[in-house]
Amino acid sequence: MTIYKDQKAIQLTPELREYLLESSVREAPVLQKLREHTATMPEKDMQVLPEQGQFMGMLTKILQPKNILEIGTYTGYSALCMSLAAPNAKVTILDVNVEWTKIAEKYWSEAGVRDRIDLILAPALESLKNLSGKSFDLIFIDADKKNYPIYYQECLNLLSETGVMLIDNVLWNGRVIDPNYTDTLTKVIRNLNETIKNDSRVDICMLPIGDGLTMIRKNGSGGGTRTPDTRIMIPI
Ligand SMILES: C[S@@+](CC[C@H](N)C(=O)[O-])C[C@H]1O[C@@H](n2cnc3c(N)ncnc32)[C@H](O)[C@@H]1O
Repeated sequence: MTIYKDQKAIQLTPELREYLLESSVREAPVLQKLREHTATMPEKDMQVLPEQGQFMGMLTKILQPKNILEIGTYTGYSALCMSLAAPNAKVTILDVNVEWTKIAEKYWSEAGVRDRIDLILAPALESLKNLSGKSFDLIFIDADKKNYPIYYQECLNLLSETGVMLIDNVLWNGRVIDPNYTDTLTKVIRNLNETIKNDSRVDICMLPIGDGLTMIRKNGSGGGTRTPDTRIMIPI
């Protein structure tokens, strides 16, 4: 582990993040309106950051998913980023909050994507059971953290062979490395990160964007890194 410490990664200061935003974020007007609306709400910090939304939009364009699943939509920003980037995809959204998802629906309608979105208002644990047997090419998990370990396992079953799963808040505002935090949610996130790291079924990548985002794909989905390439083992 210590060898990693010698390699320097950039620290994203507020000023540098400002630069990053100014020089790369191109937010569609409807996304900007939704973000400005959400900024007036007390729970505004639940929304994904614009640079993360843009990353998710880019990933969606690359993957061209037919079916997208999101757990936890709040006012619908991340769902809108993905929906706009995949004009033919069917999007399934799981949430429990009527008030917040009404706002989401308003902006999804304004963006012309509402008719492709199936909003299921029920606890995600319940809804996931009903989705059993379905397949999704892109899954974003961003709801109640205590159930993250179950969402991870259930969503792995729902993930298509070449699909990508994204899990948000994996750095948990830095608490993952702070020993002073021994609360249940911090432990859940730490344990899940460890479980995923040790799960030989998947390829992973943890990105320091927003509050930390882990990307997951099944490692049999082509170009996997776990099977040794025997060609490079032949002595020459
Ligand atoms: C962090 S917010 C999602 C933010 C959203 N992805 C965005 O881009 O703005 C979490 C959401 O999870 C929802 N939620 C909480 N518990 C849930 C549960 N048991 N099942 C489904 N959704 C739940 C909340 O209502 C809330 O809208």
